[in-house]
Amino acid sequence: MLWLLSKRENQISKAANTIIENFSESHLDEVFTIEKYSNPTPWRLQTFQKVLVNRTLSFVIKANNKIIGFCIASAVHEECHLQNICVAKEFKRQGLGKSMLKTLTTRCQVANLKQVILEVRASNSAAQNFYKQCGFSEIGRRKDYYRLGDGRENAVLMSLSLEKRFL
Ligand SMILES: CC(C)(COP(=O)(O)OP(=O)(O)OC[C@H]1O[C@@H](n2cnc3c(N)ncnc32)[C@H](O)[C@@H]1OP(=O)(O)O)[C@@H](O)C(=O)NCCC(=O)NCCS
Repeated sequence: MLWLLSKRENQISKAANTIIENFSESHLDEVFTIEKYSNPTPWRLQTFQKVLVNRTLSFVIKANNKIIGFCIASAVHEECHLQNICVAKEFKRQGLGKSMLKTLTTRCQVANLKQVILEVRASNSAAQNFYKQCGFSEIGRRKDYYRLGDGRENAVLMSLSLEKRFL
């Protein structure tokens, strides 16, 4: 009777069947595949290998033993730097991104971190809206921060205080 489920009920049932695993070497190939089709200038495989050194906050989300999203973040002093978050295309808009941010903020609170900060491309209005919906606010801009074709693109700097609110 799947066709009787509302969109939201269907989304919840999909999200309920997911598991979280700490980011590890065994996830690299699948994570890199998702990254390559999701970002205009994807991270290189070596970049993912480098973040494994400081991986305590990073994790993947799996359904049916397949990675459907990942979150890469590191702790710097009392801050969490959210470096990359991505949901596989067929699982977008089902609450997984929000659910991963909730997992991340819980990990940050356990580590006694005070805020999450991130940079997002100025042209990536979808991700900026996503972050705003999850409680982030814009706190500044970094000029020419990203490569874009032959040119450069600004970054929007956003933050979420972990002292004032939970997602
Ligand atoms: C950004 C991203 C992680 C969001 O993941 P997601 O699982 O699709 O997001 P959610 O379903 O949890 O969305 C939560 C809310 O964020 C907002 N949102 C999410 N995607 C959006 C989009 N494409 N456009 C506008 N708002 C969006 C909506 O308000 C949404 O709630 P709703 O679906 O009830 O309207 C995902 O789109 C993605 O992987 N993008 C490509 C990689 C990327 O840009 N990462 C960020 C780099 S800084």
